[in-house]
Amino acid sequence: MPITRRRLIQSAGAASLASLLPRAVFSQGAGARKAVIHADQEIGTIRPELHSHFAEHLGSCVYGGIWVGKKSSIPNINGYRQATVDYLKELGVPVLRWPGGCFADDYHWRDGVGPAEKRPKTVNTNWGGYTEDNSFGTNEFMEFCKLIGAEPYLAANVGTGSPEEMRDWMEYCNYPSGSTLSDLRAAGGSPEPFRVRYWGVGNELWGCGGNFRAEQAAAEFRHFATFARVFGNVRPFLVGCGPNQNNLAWTRGFMDTLVGNRQPDGYSVHHYSDANLPPLAYTPEAMYAQFNTFRRVEQTIVQQRNLLDSYDPNRRVGLFLDEWGVWDHGISADDERRNGRLWQQQTMRSAVAAGLGLNAFNRQADKLYMCNIAQMVNVLQSMLITDGPEGKNCVRTTSYYAFMLFKPHRTKTSVHTQSDASEAPLANGPAAGGRGGGKQATEPPPDLSVSASRQGNQLIVTLVNPRHDTDMQVDCAVRGVSCRSGSAQILHDPDLNAYNSFDNQNRVTIKPHSVNVEQGRVAVDLPRLSVVTVTVEAA
Ligand code: AHR
Repeated sequence: MPITRRRLIQSAGAASLASLLPRAVFSQGAGARKAVIHADQEIGTIRPELHSHFAEHLGSCVYGGIWVGKKSSIPNINGYRQATVDYLKELGVPVLRWPGGCFADDYHWRDGVGPAEKRPKTVNTNWGGYTEDNSFGTNEFMEFCKLIGAEPYLAANVGTGSPEEMRDWMEYCNYPSGSTLSDLRAAGGSPEPFRVRYWGVGNELWGCGGNFRAEQAAAEFRHFATFARVFGNVRPFLVGCGPNQNNLAWTRGFMDTLVGNRQPDGYSVHHYSDANLPPLAYTPEAMYAQFNTFRRVEQTIVQQRNLLDSYDPNRRVGLFLDEWGVWDHGISADDERRNGRLWQQQTMRSAVAAGLGLNAFNRQADKLYMCNIAQMVNVLQSMLITDGPEGKNCVRTTSYYAFMLFKPHRTKTSVHTQSDASEAPLANGPAAGGRGGGKQATEPPPDLSVSASRQGNQLIVTLVNPRHDTDMQVDCAVRGVSCRSGSAQILHDPDLNAYNSFDNQNRVTIKPHSVNVEQGRVAVDLPRLSVVTVTVEAA
């Protein structure tokens, strides 16, 4: 395909790809692709927090996925599913957000503390009206975070809660000892304070969190922030409620209302990638429409940060993508009955989607503070899937492995990349087919996606081939370092609906892959539907 028919993507400040590469390279064949890694053009640090997670009291995420109870016949550590703990420890979870989601603005933390047998039974009205026995509460959540090595992030209740309730939760968690609330925490088995830094002030206040207008949500923020107290020297890092997707009017309304007042420390945007198909019934066309939403996600990051910068030029307010991931609607009632609400299988398509999202985060690393994939176990784009709350099986999903492939980027410095693919941000505007945007009839299918990072003499390059019908031969010119040697790993299945089942748990896993590294050049084959990470030793 000639270059004139390609949309050339170029990161800011970099020279045109066409000027760096011989023109002939664009006619090497249907699968030939070119990219340039500018190892000396830094974007920013890839914070480990961009690989953070979210767990809600929803379906079988917490009950069954994380917590099976101390008396369960499922192998467990003090009530926590053993396999969940082991697999998540291996993955590494920088931060875990809890207890919601929509659940958070209906949740009263006092229901989940004290002796478990005395805790009230409440109703989870957001997610199916089941009875919540509150056996998994604050202490249990903190213990889980400790087990998997995650930093906790609590979402406080604005919708049906009060500043007092949030303030007391802070005291319960962070005051060392001697107050009634801190002693209650100690009596629950945790004499040491939890020292929780991250506090969300409401969730989706534009929707399930109370249907507020932006100005009202900001007024709530002002009120709650006033009573966000320092206990045990922990200054709460307050995350204000931003918009769904790229709603710039919401951000203006919210930030205008806070001028001259306490600013949030973080600002939370939600951006899902919806589609109206069950996870195992995707067609290439539907898959491409879903993949293209990641170009909108990237655009949201750029434009929301840009707008925040106009209020906050020194970037003291961190941009959070508090909830993201693929949301496949149309799960069968049987699946939901067996496995819980919003349970969805993870396929090769989901892994590619994760790769597109994580590559975008690397490219925009200077603009992002934290990103939380929704959700950790058994819900939406989960890392792990169990066979129902009572089932003993626990499978690492395709998305888990995609996250694994990005782990080497953590703490490295993201650098500019270019490719001859069509990853350019899309035009603004409402997207059909759900909250995250569905099919846009005129959009071209996505193409090669690339990101890279560097630390010392190591360069990490992640490449994603989102096409179901094209094997790519990628030739990367590397500028700014001398490449010496390299190795690669791949996640791949030619079937977009392939997944790791309970009978075939390792169908889609990471495998070694061949790569050709020489001075100034990395050449690697990307079979259709694949995510590849190349580690280059440079000088
Ligand atoms: O993750 C599922 C739901 O999506 C969350 O509860 C809510 O915040 C969002 O709408």
